[in-house]
Amino acid sequence: MGNKEQRKERIVKQSWKPGNVLAPLPVVLVTCGGTEKWQPNIITIAWTGNVCSDPPMLSISVRPERYSHEIIAATGEFAVNVPSVQQARATDWCGMVSGAAVDKFAGTGLTPAPALQVRCPIILECPINIECRVRQSLPLGTHTMFLAEVVAVQVSAALLDAKGKFRLEKAGLLAYGLGHYFALGPGIDHFGFSIRKRKRKPRPA
Ligand SMILES: Cc1cc2nc3c(=O)[nH]c(=O)nc-3n(C[C@H](O)[C@H](O)[C@H](O)COP(=O)(O)O)c2cc1C
Repeated sequence: MGNKEQRKERIVKQSWKPGNVLAPLPVVLVTCGGTEKWQPNIITIAWTGNVCSDPPMLSISVRPERYSHEIIAATGEFAVNVPSVQQARATDWCGMVSGAAVDKFAGTGLTPAPALQVRCPIILECPINIECRVRQSLPLGTHTMFLAEVVAVQVSAALLDAKGKFRLEKAGLLAYGLGHYFALGPGIDHFGFSIRKRKRKPRPA
């Protein structure tokens, strides 16, 4: 038996009951409200993801008992604000208290800033802000999945390099999985790097 086979034999698995173990996930601060009826609110969401490229769409899954569910269902709008590790404490806190009882902008010190296409504010401190309009609401069980079209995007200009390229690796984004928050590690390489042809070293003349 070769070394590779020997190593594979040492990987032992344990069976778990079916559950939400997909990791790592982004954990985001979703803003909503900002209309005459609804004060701006923030809810922490881990059940989120891109679902379509054209039109650009994402989903968030929200329990009907959340105060934010009522707001998003009524207004059809929200913004996904992607936090950095600097907003880790605020991210946790916004997932612990309800906007029905507290003003989460005041409680966190996060700054509401104008969105471009929706009525709810974006969060200034978050490096990426994605404004969304709900296209479909799917009651799935414990959660309603809001499928939404991305109608505007803003990013922090401080993360652009001299060539105008957005340096995601400098954003210090926060990740989440199995009940824990993580800081992202260093970048590895670009999309498609596995099939990129190596540049040949120029032959000496
Ligand atoms: C890390 C984390 C992730 C969460 N993810 C979700 C989620 O995906 N869907 C959801 O309905 N609630 C989620 N919650 C719980 C809500 O954020 C929490 O109930 C919040 O207080 C609801 O706020 P609201 O009543 O102002 O809407 C999460 C909480 C934390 C801390």
